[in-house]
Amino acid sequence: MNEYKIAVIPGDGIGKEVVREACKVLDNASTLNNFSLSYEFFNWGSDYYFKNNTMMPIDGLEILSQFDAIFLGAVGDPKIQDHITLNGLLLPIRRKFDQFVCLRPSTLFEGVKSPLNGINPGEIDLVVVRENTEGEYANVGGFQYEDFDDEIAIQSAVFTRKGTERVIRYAFNLAMERNKKLTSITKSNAQGYSMVLWDKVFKEVSKDYPEVKTNSLLIDAACMDFIRKPSEFDVVVASNLFGDILTDIAAMITGGLGLASSGNISENNDNPSMFEPTHGSAPDIEGKNIANPLAQILTGAMMLSYLGENTAADSIRGAVKGVLKTGNSITSDLGGNATTTECTKEVIKKLNE
Ligand code: NAD
Ligand code: IPM
Ligand code: MN
Repeated sequence: MNEYKIAVIPGDGIGKEVVREACKVLDNASTLNNFSLSYEFFNWGSDYYFKNNTMMPIDGLEILSQFDAIFLGAVGDPKIQDHITLNGLLLPIRRKFDQFVCLRPSTLFEGVKSPLNGINPGEIDLVVVRENTEGEYANVGGFQYEDFDDEIAIQSAVFTRKGTERVIRYAFNLAMERNKKLTSITKSNAQGYSMVLWDKVFKEVSKDYPEVKTNSLLIDAACMDFIRKPSEFDVVVASNLFGDILTDIAAMITGGLGLASSGNISENNDNPSMFEPTHGSAPDIEGKNIANPLAQILTGAMMLSYLGENTAADSIRGAVKGVLKTGNSITSDLGGNATTTECTKEVIKKLNE
């Protein structure tokens, strides 16, 4: 029987609530499919920070390197500045393990109503491939004359040819597996170095994939078209920041952040990949047992696919789709009145049907 070692970091806010629930679903799916998940829970995050003045122990990354995958909830607490919490836990993990792809699928499932008029289930089915270790998120910059009137902040974006090429190639390969359609997002009209390099590399790599229909959009136009004609997108490749922004839009047009799954993928077999939903710690609803657990559950399915347990992954996706289709036991963000726990119970019920 295959056994996988999973590092679980529930993190902050609703992260704790939805991870607890998603683990129940994963356990059930693993029993049904004859493999086992051996979890180790890490209480790293903002509460840990209040006690230890650090988001994770000094050897945290080394500890994580021993695992087959990382399953994370969310990070962020209103009492601490976000750049401290995120640069203390989430972003170092993405960088250290070279998780250069952030994979974010958005599908409008049956039973879910898009806020866009006239868009029906099945008519949005796209995946954003977000560059995940460099670009606008490179931790490069500094302050000068801090707290004086002439204060200066410099935040540099870093775009390497290697980093750009590998994420674009990943997107082309995904496009080959899907509908052979790929859109690249830049802002090369205003950003005349980084995005010009991106465009150039995109054009070069496209020569290796003559069957893939490509186009390039500026980020502002892409935001508009995600609303105006979302059905036209299939695979979309974007830089770190643009991908971040686009995936919140993609989530909203397909039912919201409560359904948006995400994986931070490393192609180095020695490195664990990390699976965490697109949403954050949602301090506005934490502790009420009303968060939608489905994004975390679908993220768990993504993790199982990555581990090679495709049957179990598909069965979880099927169960989630079943719950959405009937509309029984859905949470308030989707128009229902079920609690986080009730919604999970319904998924498990469907999984066992
Ligand atoms: P958020 O995603 O936490 O919440 C945005 C809105 O969506 C809120 O109204 C929230 O209630 C709602 N929402 C999110 N997930 C939901 C779910 N599963 N079910 C129902 N409703 C849900 O974004 P934010 O409010 O901008 O950020 C809150 C904190 O989370 C900040 O500290 C931010 O930095 C952090 N954050 C962390 C991650 C991450 O860990 N990957 C991602 C985004 C934001
Ligand atoms: C996400 C989040 C993070 C990001 C933040 C919290 C650093 O918004 O995963 O989408 O921008 O990557
Ligand atoms: Mn985001």
